[in-house]
Amino acid sequence: YSVSSAFDFNSALFPLSASGAGYTALGTPSTPNFDLGGQQSLEKNKSLTFLNGLSLVIGLIIGSGIFSSPASVNSNAGSPGAALIVWVVSGILAWTGAASYAELGGAIPLNGGAQVYLSKIFGEWAGFLFTWCAVTVLKPGSAAIIAIIFGEYMVRAVIGADALDASPWINKAVAMLGLLLVTGLNCVSTRLGTRSADLFMFLKFIGLLAITILGIVVAVTGFSANKAALSSAWRHTNWFEGTSTSTSQWAVALYAGLWAYDGWDNTNYVVGEMINPGRDLPRTIHSSLPLVILAYILANLSYIFVLPADVINASDTVAVAFGQVVLGRLGSLILALVVSGSCFGALNATTFTAGRLIYSAGKEGYIPSLFGTIGMSRGNPQMRLPRRSARAKHLTRFIADEQGFFYTPIFAMALNAGLTAIYIIIGDFTTLTTFYGVASYLFYFAAVVGLIVLRVKEPELERPYKCWIVTPIIFCCVSLFLLSRAIFAKPLQALGVVAFIAVGVPLFWWRVGSRGRGRGKSEERSWKFWRRWGRG
Ligand code: ARG
Repeated sequence: YSVSSAFDFNSALFPLSASGAGYTALGTPSTPNFDLGGQQSLEKNKSLTFLNGLSLVIGLIIGSGIFSSPASVNSNAGSPGAALIVWVVSGILAWTGAASYAELGGAIPLNGGAQVYLSKIFGEWAGFLFTWCAVTVLKPGSAAIIAIIFGEYMVRAVIGADALDASPWINKAVAMLGLLLVTGLNCVSTRLGTRSADLFMFLKFIGLLAITILGIVVAVTGFSANKAALSSAWRHTNWFEGTSTSTSQWAVALYAGLWAYDGWDNTNYVVGEMINPGRDLPRTIHSSLPLVILAYILANLSYIFVLPADVINASDTVAVAFGQVVLGRLGSLILALVVSGSCFGALNATTFTAGRLIYSAGKEGYIPSLFGTIGMSRGNPQMRLPRRSARAKHLTRFIADEQGFFYTPIFAMALNAGLTAIYIIIGDFTTLTTFYGVASYLFYFAAVVGLIVLRVKEPELERPYKCWIVTPIIFCCVSLFLLSRAIFAKPLQALGVVAFIAVGVPLFWWRVGSRGRGRGKSEERSWKFWRRWGRG
């Protein structure tokens, strides 16, 4: 892609607004005449490769959902065949959304995801409202859900299921520990964050592959530790017996499936740090989503082959039930560990990008500018560690960034961890998931409509990747259906979402309307302070 096209585009949409110009200038490193004024910027460090992009998407998508949503999908769809259809449809829907976002990410190659797309296309207020919701609820709320599921399975595996009944605080405490660990990892260096994401991506695939292979072996040979519980679903003649005929039930099943596929926009938040976003972002999307869809279908087939329908429908820990049936007590233990590992990886992937979203909100002045600063630069790690052994040097090189340690948005990450911790403590799932579903699809919908608007408004804009126009249209129609269903089913909660978004409007006037009155100064001040602190 050419950077200059992003600039023409920017000045075309923001002809008179200084803030609009600053936007791109901060976000795009090769700006010809923009003085960073001693400030550092994450986007200067273009280090993310195709593999990193892949593991950020897959790392977040494969989290808790494939191990816990099957109950909700199967019981609402009514039959195994219908459930599989839901898994395929929700996967394809996620794919159409992700492909649309790939086009947006290539055309506007900046950090921040929907924040920048909405700002550029509809005006800064739209981006602000998204940021407001994402920073305060969407990111920390979804992270809290994943963290609690991590805690639950960890406790199940290490202490035993009885501990969960004894006190809900045990699993919340473990969730907190996981959150702290992940936040720490991501503060140390970008490299450590992405390396853990890569590692967990592979582990997850191995886990899902193991489930699939076990399922096939059991189905073919009839071997299992618990013969009595073994299902004979694969011998069923009628896979569609009992299929639900109610649209609401299908919508609920679809929502559950979509939660398991959610997170497909994860790499979009860090496009500004990718080495070659125009090429790697669409590649990332078009390899990760088919892979995940395939892995999910296989895992579900495996559940259906092995477990009787009523067990799948009743348990929100399908994977553990699966392990129990196939390999007995040891199996349920191993699977509990796999699931908690998978959630830990998802927590890592969401922390990585949430930190960057908050960071760019801080840079924009949406929130106090401290959150838009980088920890510190410790110079070249090799030069600062002269007397370390060769192995220590090697390790340093393995985990430190080019700029040394803590060249990461540590304040943003701390804010994210703090908010997540609050949600972990309050932890009211049903409210949180409904809010998450409605609000996130509202913004996905808006951004994808934005893609169509942008095609009309800026046909000349350089798009390294252009998706088939039917793709965003399908995505918009289905999300509209889902949103309307939610509004009819839970009008009060949907109203709550709208009210919450509306609170962002006065905030917008406060944070953005007052721009130019010393925002730059305070940014400068906090930067100097932290630099002094960092260098000692
Ligand atoms: N798909 C993930 C899971 O199955 C959930 C992703 C949550 N989404 C997000 N943007 N944080 O656990």
